[in-house]
Amino acid sequence: MTVTRVALVTSEAGAGLDEDLAPLVTALAGCGLTAEPVVWGGGRAAWERFDLAVVRSTWDYVARLDEFLGWADATARVTRLWNPAPLIRWNSDKHYLRELARHGVPVTPTRFLEPGSAFDPAELDGPHGVVVKPTVSAAALDTARYEAGRSGEAARHARALLERGRGVMVQPYLPRITEGERALVLIGGAFSHAVRKGPVLTEPGLVDDDRFPHPDVVPHRPTGAEIRTALAALAAVPGPRPPLFARVDLVLDDRGEPLVLELELVEPNLFLDTDPRSPARFAEAVAALARP
Ligand SMILES: Nc1ncnc2c1ncn2[C@@H]1O[C@H](COP(=O)(O)OP(=O)(O)O)[C@@H](O)[C@H]1O
Ligand SMILES: [Mg+2]
Repeated sequence: MTVTRVALVTSEAGAGLDEDLAPLVTALAGCGLTAEPVVWGGGRAAWERFDLAVVRSTWDYVARLDEFLGWADATARVTRLWNPAPLIRWNSDKHYLRELARHGVPVTPTRFLEPGSAFDPAELDGPHGVVVKPTVSAAALDTARYEAGRSGEAARHARALLERGRGVMVQPYLPRITEGERALVLIGGAFSHAVRKGPVLTEPGLVDDDRFPHPDVVPHRPTGAEIRTALAALAAVPGPRPPLFARVDLVLDDRGEPLVLELELVEPNLFLDTDPRSPARFAEAVAALARP
């Protein structure tokens, strides 16, 4: 019998922290697949040894974006890579929110500032303040919230990012995030499970790259509107097949309607420990791709 080998792609930092890896290895074994975590980058791994590589906890890619996208393209030439390399490229830059909006998906109102273009600092304000963040980011890196009337500080933050050649997003601070950011996990295009987590930007005016990005996680039963919004976001994703995995992060607006804060197709934490059936669900979707 031939062995089907799966690489669960991680990073030096992710390997010890990614709590989804162990249950996935076990669930994949239950489907007859041999899986192992493999660190991306540095040209060390022989990816052609694997029937499939599944990107999981490549959490260091933000600072190495070009290298990471090059790795994805190269890896996709020698094995099957999921999510696919073009989707990884598309999703690594949050300009994709515009495309979701064009498809009618309710997204967090976002103003994009591009390096080299001017903006009026006074406009970086709102009744509940604003959030300033880079268009390529994860784990709230280089991200801060500014209270109403602090547009000068918000503009200083935006300018510092722009001067480093980084695209910037400015959003109204969504105060109902205190009711929980919803994270809906979709596997093979279908809803699997969901969690709620606490607000991350609890201290206004502070950039803190050591923040824990997932505070106070609890299982969440999504409303119909939340599931519809997550599926609408997924339907707007380019490509012929649904992503293997997706996480859609939602925050409620003033009227209680869900807005997409983020659609994660690269390396989302999937909180598999919050739903005992989810590792098997994921493993079955992986098995279908590894042995088409
Ligand atoms: N517009 C916003 N309103 C309220 N909180 C926000 C907003 N944008 C970001 N945050 C907080 O900052 C965290 C990180 O921002 P996010 O957009 O998820 O980017 P990433 O996870 O890629 O760093 C979120 O989980 C949320 O707690
Ligand atoms: Mg996030």
